[in-house]
Amino acid sequence: MANQRPHVPELDDIGPGYVWRDPIRGHRVGCIDAANPDHVRALMDGEAAVLAIQDPPYNLVTFDIRKTGEYIEWCSKWVDNTLDALADNASVYIWLGADQKNDFQPLPDFMIMMRTKSVRPRSFITLRNQRGYGTQKNWMAVRQELLYYVKGNPVFHVQYTDIPKKTGGYYKMVNGELTENLERSNSGCIRPANVWYDIQQVFYRLEENVKPCYAQKPLPAIERIMNASSDPEDLVVDFFAHSGTTLLQAEISGRCCFTADIDPGYCRLTIHRLLRYRQTGLTGWQNEQPLNVTNARQEETMQLF
Ligand SMILES: C[S@@+](CC[C@H](N)C(=O)[O-])C[C@H]1O[C@@H](n2cnc3c(N)ncnc32)[C@H](O)[C@@H]1O
Repeated sequence: MANQRPHVPELDDIGPGYVWRDPIRGHRVGCIDAANPDHVRALMDGEAAVLAIQDPPYNLVTFDIRKTGEYIEWCSKWVDNTLDALADNASVYIWLGADQKNDFQPLPDFMIMMRTKSVRPRSFITLRNQRGYGTQKNWMAVRQELLYYVKGNPVFHVQYTDIPKKTGGYYKMVNGELTENLERSNSGCIRPANVWYDIQQVFYRLEENVKPCYAQKPLPAIERIMNASSDPEDLVVDFFAHSGTTLLQAEISGRCCFTADIDPGYCRLTIHRLLRYRQTGLTGWQNEQPLNVTNARQEETMQLF
C-alpha cells in the first residue's frame, strides 16, 4: 500500500457513502452526511479521534436556510455522531455564526442544545476578521465564533502568538518583591487567549485561497487548534470539509485526518488540494478556479498525480 501513488478520483466515482483512503498517511475523505450515524461509522471504521474541528453551515447566508429549531435538531444529530467518533479524552471545536438580524441565532440555541451532551464547555473563542460587513447604522460585524468543549480530560498545550510581550510597567508583588510583567513570563510573546486578532482571514490574495470556497477557514487557526489540543500522529476529524482546510493542516502538522463533505465536488476538491500540496507545496489556488478547469487543464493537472 505504501508505494501506491494516490490520485484524485473522478467526480462520477464519488457518491454517497464513498470513502477515499490515502495510502501515504492514512487520511480519509468521505462523501457522507454528518447527521447520518451509519455514514459516520463507515468513515471511522472503528477508529477514534482525539480532536474534532467542525465547521457546519451556519444557517445564515449560504447553503440551505432552515428554521432555527430544525437547524438545531440537525446539529444535535451530527454532534452525537461526532461524540461517538471520539476517544474517551478528546476535544471538540465548533465554528458557528450569530445573526444579529435574527436574535443572534443559531449560536444561543446551539449552546443550549450542547448542555444536553456529555461534554464540558471550556472556552468561547472569537476570531476577529480584518474586514467586516454591515450598515453604517450598526457596529460592523467582524467576528467568527469558535466553541471549545471537552470530553473527559484531553491534552491542552499552551500556545503563544508571535506578538512580542512588550508591555512594561505592569507590576506585581511576588514573594514580597516587585516584579515586571516580562520577568514573570516563560515566553517573550503573548498567549492568544480567547480573542484571536492575529490571524488573517482568507481573502483572494492569499496563496491558501480556494476561489469557489467562500466559507474557508484560515490554516493558521486550524494549526493553533491542532497544536493546543492534539499531538503529532493523532487522529483529527472534520465532517464539513468544503475546501479541505483541516485535512491540509493535518498533513502539514503531522496529524492524520478523517474528513467528509456531503457534496462530492467538495470531497474531490479536498483530495485535490491535499495531493497538489504534496506535489507543489502550494496550499491553495489563490485566485484561480480549481473546479472549473477545462478538460485539457484537468488532464494536465491529473498528470501530476
Ligand atoms: C462552512 S463550510 C466548511 C468550511 C471549511 N471549514 C473550510 O475551511 O473550507 C460547510 C460545508 O459543510 C458541507 N455540508 C453541509 N451539510 C452537510 C452534511 N449534512 N454532512 C456533511 N457535510 C455537509 C457543505 O457542503 C460545506 O462544504
